[in-house]
Amino acid sequence: MAVDLEKILRPVDHPYPPYPAKYMTLASGETLVIRQATRDEVPTLLKHVAPLVFVERDYYDLVAARVYAELLGWYHYRMQDEYVLVAQIDGELAAIVNGRSVTGKQGMSLHTLAMRRGLRIGAHAFAAKMEYHIDILGQDEVLVVAESPIGFRRWMIEYQLEERFDTPHELGGVPSYALTKELFDRARSKLVVGRRPVPEDLLAKAHEAILPPSDPPTPPADLLAATRAKYDLTGTALILQRWAQDRSADDA
Ligand SMILES: CC(C)(COP(=O)(O)OP(=O)(O)OC[C@H]1O[C@@H](n2cnc3c(N)ncnc32)[C@H](O)[C@@H]1OP(=O)(O)O)[C@@H](O)C(=O)NCCC(=O)NCCS
Repeated sequence: MAVDLEKILRPVDHPYPPYPAKYMTLASGETLVIRQATRDEVPTLLKHVAPLVFVERDYYDLVAARVYAELLGWYHYRMQDEYVLVAQIDGELAAIVNGRSVTGKQGMSLHTLAMRRGLRIGAHAFAAKMEYHIDILGQDEVLVVAESPIGFRRWMIEYQLEERFDTPHELGGVPSYALTKELFDRARSKLVVGRRPVPEDLLAKAHEAILPPSDPPTPPADLLAATRAKYDLTGTALILQRWAQDRSADDA
């Protein structure tokens, strides 16, 4: 008897209500739309996440590598109950956030990746994801961890998250923090912004295409490379290696 192995490997997602898109005006005067992404959009997202795997600054490398794996896991039906939200400015990808539901009452925040810096776009996208768990899915709490000091400042300190150190987080088994409904309500007026419904033309633009980030984080210039390379005083080997990495990211 033939066994359909795919049926065994593929988890069955619970039916959750979708995230209702919202929009807001940024300090730059630009309009940010935050909406739920679809599985079909994963290959496009992967293209824009891949180059960040080589950006060591602010832990973009670690977070991008994990986001890449989580997006692939979702695309190939190897993650249970995962969702992905994207933040876009005029179609351009500005941030990706994702998470999943552990139970009907508990959410797990996975990652926040800002592709445009200095406008709190990551903070707005994180707030949207918390809004999804608490307001739309009606969960009591969301487990959160930070991989970077900026993340710690944005989530643990700004929201005053509660310690749940006896609960290992899915990201590396490290001790969790929790955003409860009560904490979210307290932060709401200060940290959660956005209007609904999104005007039709704005939403249509966002759905039309996920355009590449116009000013994504890039690796810093390695100005000391030549002085460190004993047999390569011009740093050529390092530059060639960087080019090869950039090319493979472009092809990803
Ligand atoms: C954490 C993260 C999502 C926060 O995004 P954000 O809210 O849009 O904030 P930014 O990253 O733009 O800015 C964070 C701080 O660095 C400063 N900053 C860093 N690089 C900057 C740049 N190129 N331009 C302007 N400001 C910059 C900002 O002024 C800001 O300072 P503030 O906290 O006093 O406001 C984002 O930094 C990110 O994606 N980091 C890499 C991945 C990561 O760590 N994710 C979270 C895992 S827990």
